[in-house]
Amino acid sequence: LGFKHTLNSKKNVVEQLLARCFQTNNPFEEQLSQAMKYSLDAGGKRIRPVLLLEATELCGGDEKNAYEHAIAIEMIHTYSLIHDDLPAMDDDDFRRGKPTNHKVYGEALAILAGDGLLNSAFEKMINSSLLQGTQGALLATQTITKAAGISGMIGGQVIDMDSEDVQVPFETLNYIHEHKTGALLTAPLVAGAQLAGANDEEVNALKTYGYHIGLAFQITDDILDIEGSEEKLGKDIGSDQENNKTTYPSLFGLDKSKDLAKEHIDKAVNAVSVFGEKARFLNELAFFILTRDH
Ligand code: IPE
Ligand code: IPE
Ligand code: MG
Ligand code: MG
Ligand code: MG
Repeated sequence: LGFKHTLNSKKNVVEQLLARCFQTNNPFEEQLSQAMKYSLDAGGKRIRPVLLLEATELCGGDEKNAYEHAIAIEMIHTYSLIHDDLPAMDDDDFRRGKPTNHKVYGEALAILAGDGLLNSAFEKMINSSLLQGTQGALLATQTITKAAGISGMIGGQVIDMDSEDVQVPFETLNYIHEHKTGALLTAPLVAGAQLAGANDEEVNALKTYGYHIGLAFQITDDILDIEGSEEKLGKDIGSDQENNKTTYPSLFGLDKSKDLAKEHIDKAVNAVSVFGEKARFLNELAFFILTRDH
């Protein structure tokens, strides 16, 4: 079966799992649940949970054991988007084809909805780890926890904020991209492998693949912020220029940025060649990341 079909069937599994979250009967939790669901159910490519499920399968594990970690990574990613869009950060009005969370629910509830998603993600991973009682489940929880934190996504966002209105050097830009975006793309690959009890060689191959698709993903995001379609992306374009961010295109121009993204995709594909024919989906996903329009 083709790549698109496999991608969609994995995505459907994720959508069904997500749809069941935050259906509360407690009236006091209702508005918060609604605000969290608003952003979580809004769509999105679901690349991170798909990567996690794929890594588990690739390393011979049972996909079902990876479900809770898969939803958790999407919750963390969604929280990072809600906060990223806040007026204090990128100040954007559209996300996933709808007005941003704070535009609908106000800043206070948007902040708390993000906090809620983050904590629910940890709760899910810990519950699943207790239930499975395996070292792999705990390691996966640790991997995702670290990637979301100060040496991961949050750390990258901090330097990203610092870099507004100043031209940052290439090394700093790479630090930003590797952390604000790369961390949450590498973590599901490593965590998925850990849930399957993979060996070091497999984990390291997936880590390298994640590092390179992470950089390519954010370079492409920066390119789409200039020449993408708001309708297809479902989010504001021109945000980086408005906020005076240093990006790959601002340092190198669009053409060179595309070449650099392609180099990372080649390296990513090379890293997973240890899996042979089984790496087919990851190979095609890497090219999807490079050529995506949304
Ligand atoms: C957007 O991520 C934020 C970045 C890290 C560039 P995605 O492009 O994966 O957004 P969704 O999940 O599909 O909405
Ligand atoms: C996203 O970077 C990083 C996050 C951790 C959310 P951007 O700020 O470029 O993402 P978009 O373009 O708003 O999706
Ligand atoms: Mg941002
Ligand atoms: Mg942004
Ligand atoms: Mg962007």
